[in-house]
Amino acid sequence: MFLSDKFGRRIADLRISITDRCNYKCVYCRTGNEGAGAFYGDLPFADYLRMTRVLVGMGITKVRLTGGEPLLRKGVVEFVRELASLRSGKNGNSEPLDIALTTNGHLLAELAQPLKEAGLTRVTVSMDAVDPDRFARITRVPGGYDRVLAGIRAARRAGLWPLKVNCVLMRGFNEDQIIPFGMFAREEGVTVRFIEFMPLEEDRLWTPTTVVTLEEILTRMAEYRSLVEFPHARSETARRYHFDDGIGEIGIIAPVSHPFCGHCSRIRITSDGKIRTCLFSVWDHDLYAEMRRGASDDELAEFIRGVVMKKEERHHIGEPDFVPASRTMVHIGG
Ligand code: GTP
Ligand code: 5AD
Repeated sequence: MFLSDKFGRRIADLRISITDRCNYKCVYCRTGNEGAGAFYGDLPFADYLRMTRVLVGMGITKVRLTGGEPLLRKGVVEFVRELASLRSGKNGNSEPLDIALTTNGHLLAELAQPLKEAGLTRVTVSMDAVDPDRFARITRVPGGYDRVLAGIRAARRAGLWPLKVNCVLMRGFNEDQIIPFGMFAREEGVTVRFIEFMPLEEDRLWTPTTVVTLEEILTRMAEYRSLVEFPHARSETARRYHFDDGIGEIGIIAPVSHPFCGHCSRIRITSDGKIRTCLFSVWDHDLYAEMRRGASDDELAEFIRGVVMKKEERHHIGEPDFVPASRTMVHIGG
């Protein structure tokens, strides 16, 4: 029996945060205040592996590793190798799992090839400006831009494909990067995905006017070159476009102006082993506590089924009844 929630949404995508530490302090995510933001900590990889094995047995076909910054975790290559030895089990067959990673790219140049060899399918790199100074202002880390660019190129060489670059747009910081990113997508052969800023940051900077919307991104990009939209698969987070000459692809992820909750197929495990059924959940469900008390795999599966039944119908961003999530993004993983 596939895993599904009370709204009939099939849950096939798992995102595991393997650490909530991060070496960047991006303005749309972290606070710049020293000492702020205690970490929840992480678990031995063997525990994430067991959780994943149980979930794969329940129909999960895609696993995305997130953070904090997942490449800070020693042993990540070995973990990917072990994940790759699990099978999706879909309909009893043995299709390989789709194993993806979201990273800030800072450590990717050295790790891209080993990760590919271990069985990683693809990678998404977060990058919010294509200008070194602007990049440093956003990440609050000097000298990162060249490393991230080298990471992107190494991932491409290693065959981690399709390669996506995520850019969170925030008014006042980087909305002037839209056209430069269009050029970047064409020159580097990567898919650049612009993401509407969501209220999940430590500093509570979000207001409706800080969001650069899908419509605005399209208008701005059209000043550079015409775009043609690909057919939109309903379960996809991104709307995808190519430029009129066929060179370069961009995507827009618009959870604020065009929510996609109705087709959500995701659950998340936090670095400390809690299940989150929505980015905006106001509570988590302690799967690790079940393991610690000695639950069998069947009991874990039962627990997970019960939790998934509580999955929220939708987020309430921008509505009067919006309640902030119980964790900020760095402790969830995106
Ligand atoms: P693939 O289809 O596997 O490439 O992944 P994806 O499209 O889910 O992309 P990715 O994992 O890179 O997520 C991109 C961004 O979409 C995240 O960083 C979030 O900003 C946003 N996002 C992902 N999942 C959710 C979700 O469940 N709810 C909302 N509101 N936003 C989400
Ligand atoms: N709104 C939208 N996307 C965000 N990300 C981090 N914080 C936010 C936010 N407040 C994105 C990052 C990264 C992924 C983990 O989540 O850019 O690609």
